[in-house]
Parts: sequence; C-alpha cells; structure tokens
Amino acid sequence: MKTRNYLLNSAMFALLAFFVFVGTGNTALAADKLVLYCSPQIEWCNLMVKEFEKATGINVKMTRKSSGETFAQIKAEAKRPRGDVWWGGTGDPHLQAAEEGLTQTYTSPHFDQLREWAKIQAKNSGMKTVGIYSGALGFGYNTELLAKKGLSTPQCWKDLIKPEYKGEVQIANPNSSGTSYTTLATIVQLFGEKEGFDFLKAMHKNVNQYTKSGSAPIKAAGRGETTIGIVFMHDAVTQTVNGMPIVTVAPCEGTGYEVGSMSIIKGGPNPESAKKFYDFALQADIQTMAAQAKAYQVPSNMNAKAPPEAPDLKTVKLINYDFKTYGSSDTRKRLLKKWDEEVGSLPR
Ligand code: G6P
Repeated sequence: MKTRNYLLNSAMFALLAFFVFVGTGNTALAADKLVLYCSPQIEWCNLMVKEFEKATGINVKMTRKSSGETFAQIKAEAKRPRGDVWWGGTGDPHLQAAEEGLTQTYTSPHFDQLREWAKIQAKNSGMKTVGIYSGALGFGYNTELLAKKGLSTPQCWKDLIKPEYKGEVQIANPNSSGTSYTTLATIVQLFGEKEGFDFLKAMHKNVNQYTKSGSAPIKAAGRGETTIGIVFMHDAVTQTVNGMPIVTVAPCEGTGYEVGSMSIIKGGPNPESAKKFYDFALQADIQTMAAQAKAYQVPSNMNAKAPPEAPDLKTVKLINYDFKTYGSSDTRKRLLKKWDEEVGSLPR
C-alpha cells in the first residue's frame, strides 16, 4: 500500500513539475534576469535597478564600476560574456568597445525622441551605442578650505598649475575613470598635444591623489579632504545640494563634455532582457527620475525634464569635442599609455 502511494505521489509530482516547466517556458525563465554593468553614480544605478525590476519583474544583478574599468572588464570577458547591458559612463570607451566588436547594434523604438548629440553618438558607433545623458567637465572647490588656507579662487584650467595649489588638487586616474579620460582629451584638444601634456605634467605636482572613480575627488572636497576636485560640473552641484561648501567652476578657457552612453554587450546571457532595459532607459519618464538620485546630467530624451539643478550648458564655453577621434581605439590607447609614461609615473 505504502509503495503504491509512494509511486502515485512521485508520478503526480513529476506531472506537476512538467506542467510548471512547460507553463513557464524556457524563454521566460531566461528572460527573468539581467546582468547590468553600471558606470554613473551608484545612487542612480540603484534607482534604475529598483524601477526596472518593479516595471518588468526581471531580476537585475548590477555592479558599479568606472567607465574605463568596465570597458576593460567587457574586453576581458569577450570570449565568454557575462554582462548584458553597460549603462552609463562616458561615451569614449563605449565607442572604443563598439569599434573593437564588443557590443552589438540595436535601434530602440524610442530613438527618434533623442536629442541630436545622442543620435550622433549612435551613428558614430554604427548603432552600437547611444547617448543617454550629457554633462560638461569642470571643477569644484571647497570654499571653507580655500578661505582657511588663503588661496586665490581658481577660475581657469591654467590656474590649477599655480604653485599655491600644491597638494590641493584631486582627479581620477584616466585609465579607470571616464571623467579623467575626458579631462585628458579635453586638455589635448584645448591646448594641443605638446602643450597639453606639459600642462598635465605641471598639474601632477599639485595632485594629492589619483582616484579610481571620477566623482570621488569632489566627494573628498565636500568632506574637506582636498580643496579642489576635477569632475563633471553636475557632480560638483550634487555636493552643493547635499549641503557641502562646494562651488562649481566652468573653466575660463572652455571645456569638454561627455555623452554618457549605453551599449548592449555582444553575446551576453540575457539578450531579450537587455533590449527591454535599453528601451526602458531611453524613456522620457525614466530619464526624468534621475533627479531623485541627485544625478543632474542633461537627459537625452527630448521629452524628459532636465533637473533645474543641471548646469545650463548654454552658459558654458564648450569645445567641439571630437568624439570620433578621442573615442577611437588607437587614440584612447595611445593617450593613456603616454599619460602613464609621461605624467602618472612622475614623482611628485
Ligand atoms: C559620474 C558622472 C557621470 C559620468 C561618470 C563616469 O558618475 O556623474 O556623468 O558618466 O562619473 O564615471 P567614471 O568613474 O568612469 O569617471
């Protein structure tokens, strides 16, 4: 009797398991997940994960790494890709990933709603990346430290090499950080390569630390650990909104900017979830939510509301940043190697 019951129960269990499997379907099981590589500020990454999970029920595994680091990781994983979408971070390494065949083409149904600069970024990559936000580079300083140390107010890039700022300037390492690579490329475009590298070598004497992440220097300035932090202007504004004594500067000579980008990783494990996230991230209402995470970039969807705190790019003297050249594999590799050899390795 016991054996009969046992057999009956086992048979019923097997049948049930079969229906659950067929009912859910293989594809739905696979579409339940998304592996997200996120490069903007962690608060915004977390908000995107929460909202996407809420909207779709897809379970997201997210890691935040800087732009250059994420590029290196995707490249290292190329034979067996583990990530699905790379969301955010500066556009140059996204362009390099496109050129090196690490990301795949996709055109979202929301593409027509995007601003021109976001579309140009996509076209420059053969539709392998797209612009999701934009922001100008600059720096911020701690007003209390500046006053306490009796330092003059920095207004221009060239001010940052003044001997009075020895040990007072912080910036990220351009190998790991997209913010810092944007600075390197901006300085070269503003002053020419020879004069630009002379400037970076002179500024090196004033740098107290090269951080891994791009926004770390202005957080440190907010905490009073460095007087000046070179960052995107919107990152400095976040510190001021957080109540820190930080003033944001648009450098007098003019400055570069980023087209923060998004790419689908070629051969990633969850391609359907990847497209869903990509479309989601281009929606106007989703981009408008950035302000909730105190992320003050200019959104790429024309119908998204730019946060009132976002620096008005029309008032900033922007250079005509050459994304095609400075996002190319050859130029990025060459400039980073040169920076390592001629700037980063110098004694201070
Ligand atoms: C900050 C900025 C973003 C930028 C990112 C790049 O989070 O707010 O606009 O794209 O830095 O990060 P990274 O650490 O690569 O410089």
